[in-house]
Amino acid sequence: MTGRYDELHARSLRDPDGFWAEAAEKVDWIRRWDVVLDRSDAPFYRWFSGGVLNTCYNAVDRHVERGRGGQAAIIHDSPVTGTVRTLTYAELLDQVSRFAGALRGLGVAKGDRVIIYMPMVPEAVVAMLACARLGAVHSVVFGGFAPHELATRIEDAKPRVIVSASCGIEGSRVIAYKPMLDSAIEQAAHKPEACVVLQRPQATAALTPGRDHDWAGLVAGASPAECVPVAATDPLYILYTSGTTGQPKGIVRDNGGHAVALTWSMAHLYGVQPGEVFWTASDVGWVVGHSYIVYAPLMHGCTSLVYEGKPVGTPDAGAFWRVIAQHGVRTLFTAPTAFRAIKREDPEGRMIRERDLSGFRALFLAGERSDPDTLRWAEEKLGVPVIDHWWQTETGWCIAGNPLGVELLPVKHGSATKPMPGWDVRCLDVSNHEVAAGDIGAIVCRLPLPPGALQTLWNARERYVKSYLTDYPGYYQTGDAGFIDEDGYVHIMARTDDIINVAGHRLSTGAMEEILASHPAVAECAVIGVADDLKGQLPLGLMVLKAGITRPHEEIVKEVVQLVRDQIGPVAAFKQAVVVERLPKTRSGKILRGTMQKIADSETYRMPATIDDPAILAEIAEALRRLGYAKVEQTA
Ligand code: COA
Ligand code: AMP
Repeated sequence: MTGRYDELHARSLRDPDGFWAEAAEKVDWIRRWDVVLDRSDAPFYRWFSGGVLNTCYNAVDRHVERGRGGQAAIIHDSPVTGTVRTLTYAELLDQVSRFAGALRGLGVAKGDRVIIYMPMVPEAVVAMLACARLGAVHSVVFGGFAPHELATRIEDAKPRVIVSASCGIEGSRVIAYKPMLDSAIEQAAHKPEACVVLQRPQATAALTPGRDHDWAGLVAGASPAECVPVAATDPLYILYTSGTTGQPKGIVRDNGGHAVALTWSMAHLYGVQPGEVFWTASDVGWVVGHSYIVYAPLMHGCTSLVYEGKPVGTPDAGAFWRVIAQHGVRTLFTAPTAFRAIKREDPEGRMIRERDLSGFRALFLAGERSDPDTLRWAEEKLGVPVIDHWWQTETGWCIAGNPLGVELLPVKHGSATKPMPGWDVRCLDVSNHEVAAGDIGAIVCRLPLPPGALQTLWNARERYVKSYLTDYPGYYQTGDAGFIDEDGYVHIMARTDDIINVAGHRLSTGAMEEILASHPAVAECAVIGVADDLKGQLPLGLMVLKAGITRPHEEIVKEVVQLVRDQIGPVAAFKQAVVVERLPKTRSGKILRGTMQKIADSETYRMPATIDDPAILAEIAEALRRLGYAKVEQTA
């Protein structure tokens, strides 16, 4: 017997044009499309070619026009500043159109890029929507990245304007953003024409005359801007994500496909109704924040909760339950690491019981694999469906999940459940053949990808093809490995590249290695991701020093830790490194990172047949043991 999900998914693959044209009815178009799925430039597929719309209109204006003006669009709950602020849809429209007017006054027009480097304040959402209003392309950079990373993105996106704030607040620490912004602009060859700085009372910033503008002053003198019609295929934003080198990939998202897929997901995947309070505890700097703090909940007419705090420590492990009860949150979406942090501090879930969570209906987890223990704990303590779903910056929305709004499929702990519409997920071996159910392989998606997925990489069409479409012809390579079981459930187990996942944040060990290698004392190095109870994984560096270096190893370790913090940022959580005599390699000279990672995690490993000198592994194990890893010897 096939269920509603099966029918829906089968139809989406059999008749993508019909399926997505129907979904597109929920979006307001200025001009309807000529072609739903445009294959004319394959493998650069386009959705809704010929269509014209404005994403900001769909997220804001239309709700005001249709009677939601008085409903809260955004609730900003900020335990770090002790404030709660609500913006109705009418107020949001006023702020967005005036800020769009301000940007226009600075010369921003359709197609121009605007970088947004801001903490979790409503103005970050306003800035994103204002860009969408003008047809300008925003690129939000997460606040936990260092100036060097910001500079790389300035260099690549070449923004006309950068929007920032005087500071962010991390727990009890005030982090000045403006000096980081200044440093990034100094490092980048491209210079923005103007910067707009939101002055926050916790730390005001000195403005550079002639370049910097105070947000409040600029908006006060601006006249509101109307929505600019854009093609469905025009870019809405660029979001940089870690690649396998220090050069991040600029994921390009369109307007039309994005609006259609995200709107579809709110009702069908998340099971949310317009008017309900939807909370994504993430950051606007990540794709999860783009899609489910900003665009999807607003396009669907929900109230989006913008939270400036942590799951623990602001002030305690009851923060999430306080927010849910106080604001009537129906659906929470966060990363498993947040739940591991809460569970560690309140294992009995005592603080959960202190609040009235009767209106709370579902928890969605993504960003990293949900370990079954954490999932079960959340299910037991919350008594609502807890849904693991798998996606990537590239995909913009969920590849595999459990469609609560269609039918809740039986949950299998450790699996992200089944592919969402349009996602034809397969598991392949190295020769491009599908493996048997239950066997591990590369998880790939058959082309074309559904609406909402990346269109290309900014300024790097060839890199797009090479990174995603070349190794498995006809498929999009997700970079994840796992298996599909006999019931069609997708299980994501690990990355196949050098990307690691730290507290739900995606980081490149290759980028960290480039930084370690730049230290004058380091001859060669490797960075691996080791298992961590809280953050899932943590980076750990192994370094071989140049001959003749006699300085204490602790000093060098301290310096490389600082280098990574300065160049990538605190978000890398790179705090551990060790000096070793040599690194294990294959006879052809490839460093055996995977084997070292298994040794560190006390996992069973096979002695690689091609290893140059097996004795090195014992030395590595000994070095890792000194750091508290490699507790058990597990040679197969
Ligand atoms: N601006 C500046 N610094 C930031 C920052 C920001 N927006 N976000 C994080 N940082 C800093 C932190 O202060 C920390 O610095 P430190 O090394 O000086 O302590 C470092 O970056 C690492 O941050 P984080 O990984 O968040 O660790 P944490 O110890 O502060 O908090 C958790 C641990 C588990 C509570 C936290 O990771 C969390 O809430 N995760 C939720 C998952 C999430 O939002 N994932 C996003 C994808 S869905
Ligand atoms: P990002 O692009 O930062 O969203 O990170 C995407 C990567 O995070 C994926 O390629 C996976 O490796 C991992 N990931 C995200 N969600 C899940 C999930 N539900 N289960 C397993 N891995 C996940």
